Amino acid sequence: MKIKVCVGTTCHLMGSAAVIEEINNFPEELMNKIELSYATCFDVCHGMMKPPVIRINDKFFENVEPENVKEIIENYMKEVPGAD
Ligand code: FES
Repeated sequence: MKIKVCVGTTCHLMGSAAVIEEINNFPEELMNKIELSYATCFDVCHGMMKPPVIRINDKFFENVEPENVKEIIENYMKEVPGAD
């Protein structure tokens, strides 16, 4: 599963670094399923989506925080069979 976290200015100011830190602290079992990378801006932060924004495979998620990122990823894995 490919996870791309936006580290562009707007997402950074809204806390994307803390989201990355949280992901990096996931249990190894979950980390083994994740290919983590970064984006400089998805061009969705200007009124389309609330930052921080991440993309899991081809789907965008907004307002991602350290407190909800694991749940977002686990829900995605349940909704999209074979996503992991
Ligand atoms: S800075 Fe993150 S989507 Fe634009």
